[in-house]
Amino acid sequence: MLAGNLHTNIRSGDAEALVLSAGALLLNLNKKKGSIQIKIPSNLRFQGEISMDEGGSSESPKKAKSKASRKPKETLLKQKSPAEFFAENKNIAGFDNPGKSLYTTVRELVENSLDSAESISELPVVEITIEEIGKSKFNSMIGLVDRERVDAALYDDFETEKAREKRLAKEARAQEIQAKNAALGKKAKETPAAKGFKGRGEASFYRVTCKDNGKGMPHDDIPNMFGRVLSGTKYGLKQTRGKFGLGAKMALIWSKMSTGLPIEISSSMRNQNYISFCRLDIDIHKNIPHVHLHERRENKDHWRGAEIQVVIEGNWTTYRSKILHYMRQMAVITPYAQFLFKFVSDAPDKNVTVKFARRTDVMPSIPMETKHHPSSVDLLLIKRLIAETSKQNLLQFLQHEFVNISKSYAERLIGEMGPDFSTKMAVKSLTSQQLVRIHQLLRQAKFDDPNGNCLSPAGEYNLRLGIIKELHPDMVATYSGSAQVFEGHPFIVEAGVSVGGKDVKQGLNIFRFANRIPLLFEQGADVVTRTALKRINWNSYKINQIQDKIGVFVSIVSTKIPFKGTGKEYIGDDITEIASAVKYAIQQCCVQLKSKIVKKMQAREQQERKRNLSRYIPDFSSAVYNILKNTQLHASKKSRYADDDEELLNKVSENLITKETLSEKLAKHVEQVDYEMALEYATQSGVSEEPRETIYIQSHEGEEKMIDLHAPFIVFRVFQ
Ligand SMILES: Nc1ncnc2c1ncn2[C@@H]1O[C@H](COP(=O)(O)OP(=O)(O)OP(=O)(O)O)[C@@H](O)[C@H]1O
Ligand SMILES: [Mg+2]
Repeated sequence: MLAGNLHTNIRSGDAEALVLSAGALLLNLNKKKGSIQIKIPSNLRFQGEISMDEGGSSESPKKAKSKASRKPKETLLKQKSPAEFFAENKNIAGFDNPGKSLYTTVRELVENSLDSAESISELPVVEITIEEIGKSKFNSMIGLVDRERVDAALYDDFETEKAREKRLAKEARAQEIQAKNAALGKKAKETPAAKGFKGRGEASFYRVTCKDNGKGMPHDDIPNMFGRVLSGTKYGLKQTRGKFGLGAKMALIWSKMSTGLPIEISSSMRNQNYISFCRLDIDIHKNIPHVHLHERRENKDHWRGAEIQVVIEGNWTTYRSKILHYMRQMAVITPYAQFLFKFVSDAPDKNVTVKFARRTDVMPSIPMETKHHPSSVDLLLIKRLIAETSKQNLLQFLQHEFVNISKSYAERLIGEMGPDFSTKMAVKSLTSQQLVRIHQLLRQAKFDDPNGNCLSPAGEYNLRLGIIKELHPDMVATYSGSAQVFEGHPFIVEAGVSVGGKDVKQGLNIFRFANRIPLLFEQGADVVTRTALKRINWNSYKINQIQDKIGVFVSIVSTKIPFKGTGKEYIGDDITEIASAVKYAIQQCCVQLKSKIVKKMQAREQQERKRNLSRYIPDFSSAVYNILKNTQLHASKKSRYADDDEELLNKVSENLITKETLSEKLAKHVEQVDYEMALEYATQSGVSEEPRETIYIQSHEGEEKMIDLHAPFIVFRVFQ
């Protein structure tokens, strides 16, 4: 039984009909029709009042109706274009602040260039230039007249005379301390005051240019490739650096936000005898390119590749080391590429030119595009595959649109789906329920894991080369795992662990790579860091996690790298398969290192023993000699010695045995023992098992007479 007053204040908003259900009571308010229906079950008695509250004031339904009809209703629903979304949330794509944006712009352009050159099996040649543009130059570029400040107090960096004096005094003090420290040989630490005063509004601008020898782009596709967020050519299941169709557009969005200047693209493909030139910016609200100029130009030099130029706000000072670090690590993981990096400014002492020469002509195999693994698909993807397939019936669809489903397996799967399904049924006319059934079965059924043939890992050799180049370690071990799978996506983990080296800090020095991209940010949350820090018992491999200089290099490649965020900065720790593969790869390196470390320790101990024994030789031989001499001097005729001893004493008396001869003999003995131990050590460590390689030097004619020339680790067979 419902009793008492029921006050329902309803803010009408846009709801045309609002149904309130309070237990057994049902109120149906239809504002448009101006009616309120109250359905009360017959066994209930209703007593009370209902008041409607429009914009805070109580109005009668009649009044509310007349107001609604006067004013067109405003909808709260709004839509954002992808470009708008990323412009507003640019940090998720790595454009957090001007400095980071400069870094990410370089990254995105370099990675596009490498993808492009590798896609046509061309050894990449990438030139990247960052040109600093002073404020006046920037203003003249955009046609803005430089203006002197008139009302100085208006500016964010305005200082009163008193504040200025205080700052200068502080700076002078800091300089004094620095000079004192320098005199005492202490390392100078830059104090904030010494950095100088910089206002918020003092922006720095840079022209970033990236030129490559890659594939180039089809003339007509260029505007969409650079002016439409979420458009790209790398969406398939293929190991590429790019994935989201976002990077180049983010550079343009940032340039639009910070300088308002367009992006310029030049490109020439193999089959084109012209250069496509395009200057464009992006209509953020519509997410479409806004083309300023798009034309074909003469290509006298038969140049092939692409050149992208963008002017953005940045901060070279704070991100200099990150950018150079990135380039260096990129050169490490891409030794078959040649990079030329230049920073150019008006102050020649600030300029930087670094050439990372190609260290090998051998490019890893080209990653292949693959099909979806049946256990990795969701309902949406199944629908998309059906919409896009050229196959007619269900059997062909299952057999051809997925990996690891043979014809006979597809037949078994269809049989298992139930009586509503048949091999010949038209795949495009499947009902929603049937699609759900297919999805359920694909998730539950057993399929062979996808193989890693479509992947192209960096290779143990490149990893080892990289570690040696970066850290110059005392010892290094590498391991390349076989392909594994997470959520139906194949991946390969390779690792290298080193100990020692010059300019390496104590503890763990972690280097991460994903699809051959160096990852420099968000290290703490990354699967590699967490594994190395928390899941490896370094002590058990005779490695001291705190005191030893440990280098950990891990490279992961996959058709889908599960990056956290579109900024591609780290791989989360939540995918068990990846986390355990990383752990296993690091452990395998550690196992190799342990045996090396143990052998090294044994060798060190052995050397120590030799040194110790040698140290006692003079005293020992002199003591032994003295005993012998005394025995010989005091030997009476009555004394009886065995023949050997008699002979020994005679030799002492004839000076055939002296302190020197004893020392000599002992030294030889120690040498002999050491040699034998060294031999044993060499045998144990497999030096004698060094791989033998037979080289045949064969003459073009003549009989097959041959001579074998044996060297310690090689046999030359010379055919005469
Ligand atoms: N230097 C280049 N040479 C050839 N094609 C390029 C180059 N730069 C960009 N492209 C083309 O433009 C497309 C868009 O590039 P963009 O960087 O925006 O996205 P993506 O590389 O596909 O993915 P991601 O957002 O992960 O970088 C690429 O897919 C590629 O086809
Ligand atoms: Mg890209």
